[in-house]
Amino acid sequence: MQTTLITDPKSAGILLAKGALVGFATETVYGLGADARNDTAVARIFEAKGRPTFNPLIVHVPDLEAAQTLVAFNETALELARHFWPGPLTLVLPLTDKSLSPLVTAGLPTLAIRVPAHAQAQAVLRAAGTPIAAPSANPSGRISPTTSAHVMDGLSGRVDAVLEGGACVVGLESTIIGFEPAPVLLRQGGLSQDRIEQAIGPLKSDTTPAAVQAPGQLASHYAPQRAVRLNAQAPEKDEVFLGFGPMTSNLNLSESADLVEAAANLFGHLHQLDALDRPIAVAPIPEIGLGRAINDRLRRAAAPR
Ligand code: TXA
Ligand code: MG
Repeated sequence: MQTTLITDPKSAGILLAKGALVGFATETVYGLGADARNDTAVARIFEAKGRPTFNPLIVHVPDLEAAQTLVAFNETALELARHFWPGPLTLVLPLTDKSLSPLVTAGLPTLAIRVPAHAQAQAVLRAAGTPIAAPSANPSGRISPTTSAHVMDGLSGRVDAVLEGGACVVGLESTIIGFEPAPVLLRQGGLSQDRIEQAIGPLKSDTTPAAVQAPGQLASHYAPQRAVRLNAQAPEKDEVFLGFGPMTSNLNLSESADLVEAAANLFGHLHQLDALDRPIAVAPIPEIGLGRAINDRLRRAAAPR
């Protein structure tokens, strides 16, 4: 299969509606989209990513109204949606629509759903006119893509098209909240826990693998090819050094120690260092605000495989 790089969001939406696999930018990371109502198209996502089929996918819709036709909102979920949508927040809610491919939810009675803020993603979703299932557009277990070049590197020849959408501004996947029925943080992400708690009060955070069916929680999930060593003050012999704050390094997540800038740079910098085929040492990142999500991704990148 030849993968075409395209530039028109409307064509991307039309391709998706016809059952194609299309990589497109969101504010968080690039997604690999497919029509969530088309079993074959959704199955091809798993094939293209080499992803185990038990992983449920996030469905993307253009607005809250569209989301309400697919899932049942409780009051807190509605408050979160009104506060943070469109944006880097995914809500896991009871599925009410019968037309989605069961592959999307992996048979679960709940659906993970979000409204992306990226203007181009919005245009794609409106042109598609159908809910779009989209995991991050990387081969399973590899670093999430934040540019169209990353998507091409990982999936060229395995997907129909990639829509050029520039670099992702958030650079981390969406934060995932579930309800049992109290809100539970299932995955740290591009919207910080602090901001969510300012809006709705304290969140339970349940990160035990048994309690959470979010495979984003799997220990080794965002893995560069070579070993990753965290909280490094300086590189050792063969290592390349990913810095944070003012310091000498091969690449720096943010010289001014800005966590938002660091999040936006995280996957891109890991991709670049990974290409050097040397072990990667990473400077300490403060465990505050978006730093918690960054450290979560880094711990997975460093986990033994
Ligand atoms: O920012 C993002 O969320 C990106 C962009 C493309 O939107 N998408 C993304 O999708 O990160 P993916 O498939 O890489 O991650 C989806 C996560 C997985 O950890 C999955 O298990 C979890 O969402 N998930 C999906 N449905 C779920 C459900 N019903 N219950 C619990 N977790 C669910
Ligand atoms: Mg992913």
